[in-house]
Amino acid sequence: MEKAQSPDESMKENSIDYLVLVNKTHPLPEGWEEALETVHFTNSVGDDVEVERKAYDAYLQLKEALEAEGVFVDLDSARRSVAAQQKIMDDFTQLYGADYAAKTVAKPGYSEHHTGLALDLYLIIEGEDIVENEDMIQYPEVWEKIHAKLADYGFILRYLDGKEHITGYAYEPWHIRYLNDVDAVKEIMAQPGMTLEVWLGAANDPELDIDYGDSQLYTQEELEEAMIQVKCQFAFFDGCELHSIRYAGDAGNTEENLAWLKELGEEEDFVQVAEFLTNFHTPAEAAGAWEPDEEYTDYQWWLARTAVGGWQLLSWGY
Ligand code: DAL
Ligand code: ZN
Repeated sequence: MEKAQSPDESMKENSIDYLVLVNKTHPLPEGWEEALETVHFTNSVGDDVEVERKAYDAYLQLKEALEAEGVFVDLDSARRSVAAQQKIMDDFTQLYGADYAAKTVAKPGYSEHHTGLALDLYLIIEGEDIVENEDMIQYPEVWEKIHAKLADYGFILRYLDGKEHITGYAYEPWHIRYLNDVDAVKEIMAQPGMTLEVWLGAANDPELDIDYGDSQLYTQEELEEAMIQVKCQFAFFDGCELHSIRYAGDAGNTEENLAWLKELGEEEDFVQVAEFLTNFHTPAEAAGAWEPDEEYTDYQWWLARTAVGGWQLLSWGY
């Protein structure tokens, strides 16, 4: 382990805001890098990892506590530069497609990883490094043990299952966030479904009504996957509250709609389409292009399904 040194490190006067919100609509604040103090270390797969100094100390304590319970973790990635985030976005888009990338990778400049306070864990199971997302999600019982310990060391779980419309991302059991305030963290983690956005007062979280309809074409799981795409995109509607999301029915799966979406997506391998309808409420102030304080109903979202089964969100609006 080696501490990152810069000539004026001991003279840093400003402290970072450990409660900072960075998400799809909140970029990394200006001047962050000047106040940030980091530590570098080499993880078990030989990669250099950079972490904010206090978050790193807390992580080491968390790691030790987990090891006492027979759970072994390491850090895949913590602080990332804007250029590093761009590379991840490019790699994911190429490997998994734009739809998967959009719901799992932040746009450069808008990643919580820029803060140094967001840490991606990976698992070491029977001496083997489990690093890929699709492998890591095979161990829900291990993640449960990890999540149960986070609050004691100042971390929250950031991207909760079912809260994609608020956080902007699909569930990530590995992405934890340091807040340097154990009381705040305990308060957040004690409330199931509480997100940093809502806790900070940057978003409301009214009950969400989900209607899968009565489809002969898609399973509930497939519709759920499509809805996650919709919800991740909805998180860009800054200040809007999602009230309901419903599958519009199999009748939307027409040749005409398929041809329209193929044209939009410039993709040949789309095989089916799905339409969803949402109701949402706009904020009273700073509503952008929206009418302020208005309930929008039956707002449409169109997705196409590829031959291999993934969804691509192609159009939304009236
Ligand atoms: N995976 C998280 C959302 C990021 O790219 O910052
Ligand atoms: Zn992450």
